[in-house]
Amino acid sequence: MRDPQADVVAQVKQRVDIVDVIGEYVSLRRSGRDFVGLCPFHEERTPSFHVSRDKQVFYCFGCHVGGDVITFVQKREEISFREALEQLAARAGVMLPERDPAAERRRGAKDALLRALADAAAFYQRQLQAEAGAAARAYLERRGVDGATAAAFGLGFAPAAWDALTRHLLARGHEARVLVEAGLAQVGKSGRPYDRFRNRLMFPICDERGRVVAFGGRVLDGGEGPKYLNSPETPVFQKRETWYGLHLARESMRARGRAVIVEGYMDCVTAHRHGFTETVASLGTALSEAQASKLARFTRLALIAYDADTAGQAATLRGFEILRGAGVGVRLAALPAGRDPDDLLREEGAEAFRRHLDGALPLVEYLFLLSTRDLDLASVDGKVRAVERLAPALAREPDPIARDQYVQRYADRLGVDIDAVRAAVNNAAAQTLKAPTEGHNSRPGRNTTRSLPPGPARSVVERRIRGEERLERQAEELVLGLLVRGEVPAEAVWSRVEPGWFLPGAHRELAEALRRAEGRRPGEMPAGLGEDAQALAARLLVEFSGETDKTERVLQDCLTRMAKHRVRARCSEIEREIRRLERDGQPVPRDLRVEYAQLLKQVKTPGGGAWGALP
Ligand code: UTP
Ligand code: MN
Repeated sequence: MRDPQADVVAQVKQRVDIVDVIGEYVSLRRSGRDFVGLCPFHEERTPSFHVSRDKQVFYCFGCHVGGDVITFVQKREEISFREALEQLAARAGVMLPERDPAAERRRGAKDALLRALADAAAFYQRQLQAEAGAAARAYLERRGVDGATAAAFGLGFAPAAWDALTRHLLARGHEARVLVEAGLAQVGKSGRPYDRFRNRLMFPICDERGRVVAFGGRVLDGGEGPKYLNSPETPVFQKRETWYGLHLARESMRARGRAVIVEGYMDCVTAHRHGFTETVASLGTALSEAQASKLARFTRLALIAYDADTAGQAATLRGFEILRGAGVGVRLAALPAGRDPDDLLREEGAEAFRRHLDGALPLVEYLFLLSTRDLDLASVDGKVRAVERLAPALAREPDPIARDQYVQRYADRLGVDIDAVRAAVNNAAAQTLKAPTEGHNSRPGRNTTRSLPPGPARSVVERRIRGEERLERQAEELVLGLLVRGEVPAEAVWSRVEPGWFLPGAHRELAEALRRAEGRRPGEMPAGLGEDAQALAARLLVEFSGETDKTERVLQDCLTRMAKHRVRARCSEIEREIRRLERDGQPVPRDLRVEYAQLLKQVKTPGGGAWGALP
């Protein structure tokens, strides 16, 4: 027996012409045997979207979507196959066979929920305008939400009464069972349904076609219960498939070629209010694959504007990987600590937020900035802390090649030994295996600093970084000692290093004095030293070098170590400078980039490059 639907599909496809149908959505022009136009599924300036009349197919060479006429309507309208088929069948005058009754019942049940949810949203909206909604209206005004924005988002108010919504919906003929199933009502001990949301500012959550599927309700000042109460999952609401505000943002996303992703309902509303109409909220920070592929239909780039504390969390970072896996590039806006987009927009305005979005960083850069912005990276302590904070994020990177690149970059930037960072990452990985995994809904308090507890991990990192710094210090002291005692010709040192390469403080001060003190007699204290430098010189003068026969060799080794340290330090200096210029929107001088590239080559050459193997 033939499948009746297959027949209908064939008939519909025979009677409609794909070029006509697509021509209603896209302006097409003939090009050879095909028609071409700007792809409606991604942002582009030159047409890569092809439609073939002969083959009755479409294909985009830019974003690689393609298919037949039904697929096109389904994708463009974001409807089911069945719905697309119905549309086209009506157009072609083809009769559709009866639907499968079980599927029909499921559809009917969902429709009943959607109708109840739509009526609930209308009820809440009216309550916001009613006398009972005065406090909620005042609250919105205080938070800078104007009437138009509130209306666009369908904001409403759930009155403080026990069963105001339930009574209203029952009176309109909705069944109690449906209200409960839709998450609008709960059943008490008495068996009577009552409202889930009471005395709350209501944010309807819509699917991408704008149908209300759930609610978030915010407590008003002085109200009871959690800050936000959300609908439970229902047959029409799966949190992991939903973006708050997508129905309002989708066209902007396409037009602007990017999405802005925020955490909270209020962040989203305020962002739209300030013109960032490509904004959606993620309803939790751990993004799912379903959310990612949904977003990928509208844009290839997501700018994340989360609070700095959430952005660095494990579940959040995994979510970014999921987005990338769905083909959406991820950049993170570095918002001031402890401030969300809503705060920022209200306090500093749209321009400030735009600057943050425009300066959004790739993940690696963002993590670095996030983990180091309160640290003094010139100090050993700062470096140790930085590695401690970065290591757990790196430990979670599943791709070993990517992980090693991150390790390398962080090591270069911090001017620490790459093996120090590797050791820290391995340690963090071991800790992660031991520690219980973070729950998806865990929301640790704000401004908590996540770092490894003092323990084996810390001591390994610290030993390595301190070790490097100690070796540099030792090398410098040996050189200064040989110089101050006159055991090597000054020329042998100053032809290879400069006073500015010595560690700041007593070392550099003494080096500078020694470089200046041309006519100084060997073994004599240079004049005009500060207290610390003098103490150092004195100590070095009284020390006697042990192995005079190896003096030359020791000097060469020390100078090599210093040169290598200098390259690393200069690298991070340039990186800081480039970051600063980029942040301020200034061009980075070519010389700086060239110098940087050359330095990096030296650092990476095995064995220390130009300076040969290190001791
Ligand atoms: P936040 O605590 O950051 O709140 O939660 P917010 O969005 O800044 O809210 P305002 O500005 O105080 O009004 C961020 C998001 O996490 C979810 C909500 O989606 C919220 O918008 N959340 C938060 C809950 O679902 N329940 C809660 O109790 C708290
Ligand atoms: Mn907020």
